[in-house]
Amino acid sequence: MSVKRIGVLTSGGDAPGMNACVRAVVRTAMYHGVECYGIRRGYNGLISGDIIKLDERSVAHTINRGGTILYTARSKEFMTEEGQKKAVSTCKFLGLDGIVAIGGDGTFRGARALSSHGINVIGIPATIDNDICCTNYSIGFDTAANTAISCIDKLRDTMQSHERCSVVEVMGRNAGYLAMYVGLAVGATAVLVPEEKIDFEKDVIEKIRQARFNGFTHYMIVVAEGAGSAAEIAAKIKAAIDLDPRVTVLGHIQRGGAPTGRDRVNATKMGYLAVELLLAGKTNRVVCTSQGSFRDVDIDEGLSMTRSIQNMEVNVLDAMTGI
Ligand code: F6P
Repeated sequence: MSVKRIGVLTSGGDAPGMNACVRAVVRTAMYHGVECYGIRRGYNGLISGDIIKLDERSVAHTINRGGTILYTARSKEFMTEEGQKKAVSTCKFLGLDGIVAIGGDGTFRGARALSSHGINVIGIPATIDNDICCTNYSIGFDTAANTAISCIDKLRDTMQSHERCSVVEVMGRNAGYLAMYVGLAVGATAVLVPEEKIDFEKDVIEKIRQARFNGFTHYMIVVAEGAGSAAEIAAKIKAAIDLDPRVTVLGHIQRGGAPTGRDRVNATKMGYLAVELLLAGKTNRVVCTSQGSFRDVDIDEGLSMTRSIQNMEVNVLDAMTGI
């Protein structure tokens, strides 16, 4: 089948670098003489026909912008068979020969559904949670991690001056990759992630006591949102030891901001590859990366993969906190 016209959408939680990816999809399509349409508000836009024609100029100066110029949504209607049928009709009506869907695992489930209805779809991982198991890296993770790191560095200044304990809640939904990475980067006293069973006395109180024994007078506890709330952890610390911790929930600030160079370049490469795959007639694939190289895997296979926090990260963290 010759590909003449494709669509691109962003879906799920936004992630810095989504615009760089959309730009790469559009420019690669143009480079091959293929028309490109932006589908707005995720799969909702595919259902309602909320689309916009994109060309080289319409994506100019977007590589450095956070958020997504296409808007995003978590479409409930698209989860129904009826919604999917409407989306397929829109694709046929518009003559779309393929779709690039940028987002997380919910986006890929949507892509799989479209593909099963005969629409060619390629997924690109973009989520600050970095919890897409078939790829080591998802667009947005690097920027979100750096945002969290710079916030916690600021927090440390005031915690140090007041000799306090801070409990910082980091996003990640059910995954602790972001929290673990950030915790290692800020030199946290303890990091709590949902993947690791938590022994509060050993994993938090003992670490604070040990740090205090080693001469430290302020303590930084990083908690992944999936491992518990910072307020609860702070209350438990207060009840167990003579500290009055301050709570910081970093929240959605982690999803904003200009993407880092790493996010921009990976997003650009992934967007390029997704279009190449569509041009090669592929469907139901997701673009993945590991150690600098890129490949594509079947979406079903990708969605069924699992991975966890590396033992090495846990061991390194223990060594760094002196326990
Ligand atoms: O999946 C990205 C993410 O930011 C998660 O880390 C977080 O749990 C969730 O989205 C928040 O979603 P919402 O934007 O709907 O509050």
